[in-house]
Amino acid sequence: ALITLRQLLDHAAEQGYGVPAFNINNMEQGLAIMEAARACDAPVIIQASRGARSYANDIMLAKMIEALAAIYPEIPLCMHQDHGNNEATCMTAIRHGFTSVMMDGSLKADAKTPADYDYNVDITARVSHMAHWVGASVEGELGVLGSLETGESEAEDGHGAEGKLDHSQLLTDPDQAVDFVKKTQVDALAIACGTSHGAYKFSRKPDGEILAMSVIEAIHKKLPDTHLVMHGSSSVPQELQDIINAFGGAMPQTFGVPVEEIVRGIKMGVRKVNIDTDCRMAMTGQFRRIAQQTPSEFDPRKFLKPAMDAMRDLCKQRLEAFGTAGQA
Ligand code: G3H
Ligand code: 13P
Ligand code: NA
Ligand code: ZN
Repeated sequence: ALITLRQLLDHAAEQGYGVPAFNINNMEQGLAIMEAARACDAPVIIQASRGARSYANDIMLAKMIEALAAIYPEIPLCMHQDHGNNEATCMTAIRHGFTSVMMDGSLKADAKTPADYDYNVDITARVSHMAHWVGASVEGELGVLGSLETGESEAEDGHGAEGKLDHSQLLTDPDQAVDFVKKTQVDALAIACGTSHGAYKFSRKPDGEILAMSVIEAIHKKLPDTHLVMHGSSSVPQELQDIINAFGGAMPQTFGVPVEEIVRGIKMGVRKVNIDTDCRMAMTGQFRRIAQQTPSEFDPRKFLKPAMDAMRDLCKQRLEAFGTAGQA
């Protein structure tokens, strides 16, 4: 059944678990996520970016979610807008049946320019009021994602802030977080702690210098009742890099957010964990494997089925590690 982010994360907080939010762009990803949720009896968050909405079409996405809820009626499912950039994106998502929206006011509506604090408060509060009138939940973001190693933003991935940022922008300030939640009344707060979107997060296994879990702890101390969200939380597993590279890929060595760090975060109030890159890599590894091992193959299903199975297995691993398993 479809539920809101607030309903799901309130339960997660009560029971002390975290919920992965996996991105959807197509039917295969939707089925992979729901098969994983069913296999481990877990509630789940499915989220669509603006890119996903234009790729799949809003009506197609809305009907797909309706179909997934009907096929898996026993699974509590939250349908969430990932990185809404303005009021229109958020309200049209709700209009299409999303039960939750992210208003990412850490960036201006171009989704590239870091926004000032007042802009973020104003637009997030506005979306929060409107969404709450119609029973949808809202996630806000305070702090800009980007690398603490280089100060680089995420522009090379085609989304996120452009240019160099300083540490004060890359790490959420706990006192400001208190003020932000009070003024916006968001149901969940995304924070910045040194993660970034995409595969190239860290040049080495992250330590406390480049992955500031201490910031999460400090925010949780001041906001014990606020559900915290970690973006850029793919772990970029070595084995997925190896599969892609073994079958003709050329991904330079990279490091993601270790699963054990996320598990530590969940103990410190992280309730929603955004994962897209790992799912993409799980699928792409299989596309490459089939293409190279069976060059005569031309039935897309022969590529998509192993890809779907690999994504399902990845999702299951995260649902188990985060304590979501068994909570449906
Ligand atoms: O925000 C990042 C998510 O991974 C979505 O990516 O905008 O390429 O769909 P996307
Ligand atoms: P990853 O790129 O680490 O999977 O992050 C996804 C995300 O934060 C979507 O909002
Ligand atoms: Na989001
Ligand atoms: Zn994100």
